[in-house]
Amino acid sequence: MAKILAVCGSPRNQATEYVLKKALEHLEGREGIETEFITVRGKKIAPCNGCGYCKKNKTWCCIQDDCQELLEKFMAADAYLIGSPVYCYSSTPQIAAFFSRMRPLFHVYPELMRDKLGSALAVGGTRNGGEEMAVNNLLAMMMARGINIVCNEVYGYAGGFVWSQDKGPDGVEMDQPGMNGVLKLADKLADMALIREYGKKALACAADQ
Ligand SMILES: Cc1cc2nc3c(=O)[nH]c(=O)nc-3n(C[C@H](O)[C@H](O)[C@H](O)COP(=O)(O)O)c2cc1C
Repeated sequence: MAKILAVCGSPRNQATEYVLKKALEHLEGREGIETEFITVRGKKIAPCNGCGYCKKNKTWCCIQDDCQELLEKFMAADAYLIGSPVYCYSSTPQIAAFFSRMRPLFHVYPELMRDKLGSALAVGGTRNGGEEMAVNNLLAMMMARGINIVCNEVYGYAGGFVWSQDKGPDGVEMDQPGMNGVLKLADKLADMALIREYGKKALACAADQ
């Protein structure tokens, strides 16, 4: 089984959460794929303060908040679909805080993220309001954590781009090309997650021979 974890970077249960859940719903029933959804909404996640505790001691962050609980689910997944609303031409400070707190992952389990996969989508209130910037920002944060990027199909480019018109789920449903792009992205991520899963098994077999 390959587990795809959708991570929502919105502090609200509105457009972005809706889009991510639609993507997971689309993958339901696909053989070999299981899905899970997590969100920063309602969670206390302070940004990293650069104290160096994790790096120096090769251990988990000393800040006590909700981050560890989310990180445990993050570590257990094989592939990520990260979604964020566009905030000020970028992704949200909430998702950036979450990524900043992943620094101990590298120090505790240096190899853990090496073969994980990730894709990104952004939901903006304005058409061309910075969805591409937000997606690029999410991809950059994943790369900074060693996650391998899965882009969208040809003509889908870097990821998923949806226009909400600031109207929540009703708004994104009006952006059918945007929603279709998200489903294609989810399909491609699932395909790659399965290829990774079978590839790992093949490598293990080859090593046994
Ligand atoms: C603080 C803030 C900044 C925003 N900045 C932008 C922006 O730069 N570009 C844009 O298109 N929409 C911007 N928006 C609108 C949101 O991206 C849009 O309403 C989105 O659908 C919200 O996602 P959500 O419904 O999942 O919370 C901003 C909204 C907020 C609250």
